[in-house]
Amino acid sequence: MLVTGNDILIPARAGKYAVGSFNTNNMEITQAIIHTAERLRSPVMVQMSEGAIKYGGQDLADIVIDLAQRATVPVALHLDHGSSYDSALGAIKMGFTSVMIDASHHPFEENVHETRRVVEAAHAMGISVEAELGRLGGIEEHVVVDEKDAFLTDPEEAVQFVEQTGTDYLAIAIGTSHGAYKGKGRPFIDHARIKRISELLPIPLVAHGSSGVPAEIVQRFRAAGGEIGDAAGIADEDLQQAAQFGIAKVNVDTDLRLAMTTGVREVLQKNPKEFDPRKIFGPARDLMSQVIEHKLRVLGSVGKA
Ligand code: G3H
Ligand code: 13P
Ligand code: ZN
Repeated sequence: MLVTGNDILIPARAGKYAVGSFNTNNMEITQAIIHTAERLRSPVMVQMSEGAIKYGGQDLADIVIDLAQRATVPVALHLDHGSSYDSALGAIKMGFTSVMIDASHHPFEENVHETRRVVEAAHAMGISVEAELGRLGGIEEHVVVDEKDAFLTDPEEAVQFVEQTGTDYLAIAIGTSHGAYKGKGRPFIDHARIKRISELLPIPLVAHGSSGVPAEIVQRFRAAGGEIGDAAGIADEDLQQAAQFGIAKVNVDTDLRLAMTTGVREVLQKNPKEFDPRKIFGPARDLMSQVIEHKLRVLGSVGKA
């Protein structure tokens, strides 16, 4: 069933598990996300960025909405990194049930102002909202506290932000970063900060940049002719710990991009004569399902729907 973000994330925070929020850009990705969640009795969120909306538009949103309505587990369609009030309202008009307003690169007051406008409009239509405070980016464990504080989310500021905006869930900067290159080795995740923020704030917390960039997939990508540098992702154990401390929404895009491309490459490398799209994208969809299943098990959402 198609539900709001709150319907999925409030129980997750209360139950100390996290829900995967996976980016989609086409039908196969959407099927892999929703069908895997259904098979594992897991709630799930499907998110489209502004780039995905530009690429797939209402056609893609309708695919997500239709699959969500036919699913027997809760599914939300979420706007990822909405950059403005108009973008968030446009997504709601398209049928999204959850929107992010990301004004985190603006000064605090402006972030509050933009977020509050979206919250007021979205709540009037029964839609829940994600906002972000802090700046995402990899951080080394040994970095001095002052430097960390310059961009990781400040717990006291987070409390003020939520009070002043009424946002339903909050994305916090805790050491994760977007993309396949999250640092050398295991990226440092500031668990003490997550714990402190969750002690002060009862709402669901969100971790962006949470792909695991599995070594096995990276190796297969390379073996199939792909080129990728020193890729590194967030360790499963870090996500499990984060879920215990209040992270209820975990954003994943890079892992599905890597899995999809690896699946396509492997088929074409093995059989250069193949040109049936179903034989090319089918195995890619299967590989994405495996990656999604692993993530849902790590996050603890399996069997919660
Ligand atoms: O956080 C960004 C997501 O990975 C979406 O990326 O804007 O290229 O669709 P995109
Ligand atoms: P990854 O690049 O780690 O998959 O993060 C995606 C994300 O945060 C989307 O908002
Ligand atoms: Zn993100």
